Amino acid sequence: CRIVVLISGSGSNLQSLIDAGQSGELGDADVVAVLSNKPGAYGLERAQQAGIATDCVEHQRFDSREAFDNALRDAIDRHQPDLVILAGFMRILTPDFVRHYRGRLLNIHPSLLPKYPGLHTHQRALDAGDTEAGATVHFVTEELDGGPPIIQAKVPTLPDDSAETLAARVLSKEHRIYPLAARWFAEGRLQLNDSEARLDDKAL
Ligand code: GRF
Repeated sequence: CRIVVLISGSGSNLQSLIDAGQSGELGDADVVAVLSNKPGAYGLERAQQAGIATDCVEHQRFDSREAFDNALRDAIDRHQPDLVILAGFMRILTPDFVRHYRGRLLNIHPSLLPKYPGLHTHQRALDAGDTEAGATVHFVTEELDGGPPIIQAKVPTLPDDSAETLAARVLSKEHRIYPLAARWFAEGRLQLNDSEARLDDKAL
């Protein structure tokens, strides 16, 4: 299973996937390329250190979201991925892009979805007085952070927590569940069912 990982920043989730690949925890899956929309993303260095191909498609160079997504798609498809993993990739993707990778595009989101889609998840959990927080790996669909969940990890919130301390606790769990989900996918155990088609069937 050929995995292409998209990043924008530090790439600690990417690192957990690289490490899991090297220790055999991903089964026959391998990270074959890492793409960033930011040239300075530290995750690119992590990939290079692991001998993995990298590419950068800078969103600022494109006039529209569509033009950027088309260029990104070409850059991804050059590596013939079976699975595309968003790991801290901070761009909203167009419906066409998402459809192109339907059923083979995963994201990790730092909240217990469906709670807190979008940004500032940890602060929102603390503000709401939640006693637990966490992260969710999910299939990407056209709805932002709204696709079917695959696995969640929970952590407690602590009385002295700031958004930063909570984020660190959640992140360490992210590093465990993302490789697990990637492995399940590689083993053919995850499938995105086409609920629209099922609805059509019922309508008939
Ligand atoms: C993680 O918190 C992830 O859940 C979110 O972006 C962050 C990426 O961190 N989508 P890293 O770049 O993997 O260290």
